[in-house]
Amino acid sequence: MKALTLNGYDGLASLALADVPGPEPRPRDVLIEVHAASVNPVDGKISQGYARSRMELAFPHVLGRDGSGVVAEVGGEVTAFKPGDEVYGVADQTRWGTHAQFVAVDAAHVARKPQNLDHIAAGSLAVAALSAFAGIVTTGQAAAGQKVLVHAGAGGVGSLAIQMAKHLGAFVAATAGPSNLEFVRDLGADVVIDYTTTDFAAAIKDYDLVFDLMGGDVRYRSFPVLKSGGVISHISVPPMTQAAPRSDVTVKPAPVSYETRYLDQISAWVESGAVQVVVGAVFPFADAIKAYEHVMTGHARGKAVLDMVGKT
Ligand SMILES: NC(=O)c1ccc[n+]([C@@H]2O[C@H](COP(=O)([O-])OP(=O)(O)OC[C@H]3O[C@@H](n4cnc5c(N)ncnc54)[C@H](OP(=O)(O)O)[C@@H]3O)[C@@H](O)[C@H]2O)c1
Repeated sequence: MKALTLNGYDGLASLALADVPGPEPRPRDVLIEVHAASVNPVDGKISQGYARSRMELAFPHVLGRDGSGVVAEVGGEVTAFKPGDEVYGVADQTRWGTHAQFVAVDAAHVARKPQNLDHIAAGSLAVAALSAFAGIVTTGQAAAGQKVLVHAGAGGVGSLAIQMAKHLGAFVAATAGPSNLEFVRDLGADVVIDYTTTDFAAAIKDYDLVFDLMGGDVRYRSFPVLKSGGVISHISVPPMTQAAPRSDVTVKPAPVSYETRYLDQISAWVESGAVQVVVGAVFPFADAIKAYEHVMTGHARGKAVLDMVGKT
């Protein structure tokens, strides 16, 4: 099969399209013919060696955390899916990923594709939506009437986090750059703050939750936004180097679960229209490295998706 292989830790220079043997499904796996796969910031970071200390990869390796496609084969213990099912889900990064024509994935991290999405949109969804779900719902526990700030509201995770918080009844503020202000407003944000011209900490106060998708100094500057007892939830972003300036605010890492039941919840929200999927850019598989370049600028709008089959 064709795959985008990672052959070292030299960033984009270590990536190459190549022919490699296809994966063999284990008993609990589904083998998926990938129709679309997203490029997440973590893919670029891994290509630069970011996860090296905790995840030693054997080269060639295939990156790509999530995708959408059609079940080609199921392992002997799988009963929830059958060949021909249209599914989306999350691959195990320590095994081979979704930037290939086929991927073998634990069936526990797969769900039926939302019926109203094509593979391109569904392929953009799993990691970003599950990350937003973790930050806003399971860890952030956003609720009706609360005030929630979403940093990086125009990105893959932030654009979904805004919509989830709105769906739960929260009042939502979001930060974004000048070219994305209208976009973030259209997603439902009640307050939109241009981080290039406005100090968000001076613009809003008494918030219940900050979902931090930036880390570092942005997290430090988020403390004054919160009321006493407020929460900063965050996924894997650069740590804050300063000491916490307040003790009446809790910083909570948001562990991301890839279980089918959460993917099903996200599908339900997408199918009801509560959450709209924003595909920012689609790249043919042959241009996969351009998609990585795009995502690694750190200024993506919505998700970047690889079209693996040239049709959706
Ligand atoms: N499981 C996990 O732990 C997990 C999962 C997914 C993502 N992440 C991490 O979460 C972060 C966001 O991921 P993503 O997929 O949403 O990224 P993305 O799609 O690449 O979006 C990045 C966004 O950040 C915005 N941005 C840049 N500088 C900003 C600033 N100073 N203030 C506010 N917004 C700013 C950009 O908006 P403008 O273009 O308007 O500047 C862009 O829309 C990444 O660091 C990623 O690695 C972690």
